[in-house]
Amino acid sequence: MSLVVKRPSVQTSGERPLRRIWRTPAARTKWFWLIGSILFYVAIYVWFYLASKAQGDAAPGNDPFRLFGILAYVLVLSTAAYSLRRRFVRSLPGKVQSWLWMHTWLGVITITIALLHENYAFVTNSFVTKFSDLTDTYWAGLALFSLIFLVISGVTGRLLDLWQTHVIAREANTNGVGIVRAVEERILELEYTVERLCAGKSELFKKYCMQALGSGNLQSKFPAIPVAERSDFQNAHDTLVTRADLLQSCRRQQRARLIMRVWRTTHITLACIALLVISYHGVMELLTNVFHIIAAA
Ligand code: HEM
Repeated sequence: MSLVVKRPSVQTSGERPLRRIWRTPAARTKWFWLIGSILFYVAIYVWFYLASKAQGDAAPGNDPFRLFGILAYVLVLSTAAYSLRRRFVRSLPGKVQSWLWMHTWLGVITITIALLHENYAFVTNSFVTKFSDLTDTYWAGLALFSLIFLVISGVTGRLLDLWQTHVIAREANTNGVGIVRAVEERILELEYTVERLCAGKSELFKKYCMQALGSGNLQSKFPAIPVAERSDFQNAHDTLVTRADLLQSCRRQQRARLIMRVWRTTHITLACIALLVISYHGVMELLTNVFHIIAAA
């Protein structure tokens, strides 16, 4: 989730203040990875189609269907490489956002290529009826379904990210202050203002303000404030209203961030499990049926 702010550079007196615009930065690489992935998938699909027609039986152990399995595994590893750029080897070239587009589109076509590898059997005719259907052939079924869940979780996250980024951008645009940290600072300033206004005032004045500061809500019924304090009370009340609005905005933005954090933890946990399962299937197939290093079970 990322946001940039475009600030008006010069603002001459008398001009209407320009509205701050919060928006997500665009990446040109998005189109590169999208179009590249579509073209790549189309080429593989044409190959799949011709080979299926020629061979009649599209078995995952025969080439090129076996090759599609290897390709899907390479794509899974390439998709996971995003984590390297984001976390472990930050010196890798390219922006993180571009890597995320690579991650997104390679992740999506990985599943379509994995389905070509097994000729759509698991999802069209060879349905899972017992647990061993998932664990046969070095966990082939588990590998496919964990990949499906992982990609669904990834797509869900991208959609959630769009939605929650929009929520934060809308709040930042309309609360008059900006994103969470700026809002928190402003709330603190407003609290100091109210405390200053309370100094030396009647008990009713102080009680009303402290109650509002403590709960974040304002009592609809005004107390009987002495006439001499009414102007300051009006100021304090307006400040408390602004603070209450900012508190709401801050909470909405924090909730949006929390949703994304929970989703990210779920996706990463799923990714670790899926990588283990897919790697077991991929490596065992490579060792037994491709390189013949160990005998097939
Ligand atoms: C082969 C399938 C996939 C694997 C192995 C995978 C793995 C991962 C891993 C390991 C991370 C954590 C990166 C980090 O923070 O270190 C991650 C993050 C993420 N993935 Fe995936 N993922 C896959 C598919 C997808 C797909 C298909 C999408 C979207 C359509 C997606 C969207 C995301 C997003 C939005 C993040 C968080 C990015 C961020 O906050 O930096 N993933 N994924």
